[in-house]
Amino acid sequence: MTAAAIGQFGPPSVLRLQRLPCPAPKAGEILVRVQAAAVHPIDARRRGGYARRLFALMGAARMPLVLGNGFAGTVVAVGRGVTSLRVGDAVFGAKPPSSSGTHASHVVVRAEHALRQPAGMDAMALAALPYNFLTAARAITDAGITAQSLQGRAVLVYGASGGLGLLAIWLLHSMGAQVTAVAGGAGLDDCRAAGATTVVDRHRQPLHALPRHFAATLNFANWDDEAALLHLLAPDALGHATTVHPMLGNIDRHGLLGGALATLRQRRRMRAQVPKGARYAWTVFRPEPALFALLAQCAHRLPAPACTGYPLSAAAQAHRHVEQRLPGRAVLLPA
Ligand SMILES: NC(=O)c1ccc[n+]([C@@H]2O[C@H](COP(=O)([O-])OP(=O)(O)OC[C@H]3O[C@@H](n4cnc5c(N)ncnc54)[C@H](OP(=O)(O)O)[C@@H]3O)[C@@H](O)[C@H]2O)c1
Repeated sequence: MTAAAIGQFGPPSVLRLQRLPCPAPKAGEILVRVQAAAVHPIDARRRGGYARRLFALMGAARMPLVLGNGFAGTVVAVGRGVTSLRVGDAVFGAKPPSSSGTHASHVVVRAEHALRQPAGMDAMALAALPYNFLTAARAITDAGITAQSLQGRAVLVYGASGGLGLLAIWLLHSMGAQVTAVAGGAGLDDCRAAGATTVVDRHRQPLHALPRHFAATLNFANWDDEAALLHLLAPDALGHATTVHPMLGNIDRHGLLGGALATLRQRRRMRAQVPKGARYAWTVFRPEPALFALLAQCAHRLPAPACTGYPLSAAAQAHRHVEQRLPGRAVLLPA
């Protein structure tokens, strides 16, 4: 098989097209011929060395390192005990962080981390959806939000025009929330189209000028603004969740113990600013069965992300696309 792999951490130029042995699926796994594989911000950061210490302990930083979580493709082999999928099925999904990611012509994933492709959907959009959807949906749950607890209340999404943000807006809107989307000017129309009731241009209106009436706030943008977001929660708020917490960076800088202690201190400091009874959560991507079931139900209705395709040999360019925050999701097309 071929893969966009790195032999050392560094700038996009460390990415090389390599021939690697094609893995065979073990029990419970499937081998997928990859049609499209999303490049997310985490891939560009991992390539530069971010999260290397914790991921090394998890076996997810071995060289040659093939990055990538999200994929769409075709099942070409199944391991023992797999009954949910068959050879020839068109699938999409997301695998947990590993050293053998989806930026390759072939990838092995656990069968429960793949779903059948809905008819008529573009493979690039399908590859870009699952990692973001599962994380956005997890953040919503982590913040204590349910359709019952919301009852038309206001929720603020920060980083609203990004991959996570637009999916969170859509999910919250479909749960009956009044969504306030905070984003840069260029993304405000997308936020409205996804279901935001109110849009705020973060370059014109600072967070501290917003009303302090939100049932929940979600931070998909910037840890430096965490405290400002917590101050926008109503006294009877449900909670707050962030995906941009400093845990992995702390461990990179201070090692496992020092990083864990620094993380605990920062978390405690923020936790103290949350209204009594409200949740405070640091969300991490986890491919959970309940969230896959939710994705299967609504994939065909989700706002399809605009994507730009790159051949696998141009993986470095795709990483630059992500780093320069060019419009649209960067997606690798191994075929
Ligand atoms: N913890 C986890 O497991 C996990 C999983 C998935 C994602 N994440 C992280 O969650 C974040 C969002 O992911 P994504 O895929 O949605 O990223 P994305 O598509 O790049 O969107 C992030 C949005 O945040 C806004 N933003 C960026 N920097 C900002 C800043 N300094 N201040 C205010 N707003 C800023 C940008 O929109 P505007 O410029 O339009 O405002 C951008 O569109 C990323 O940092 C990603 O690495 C974490």
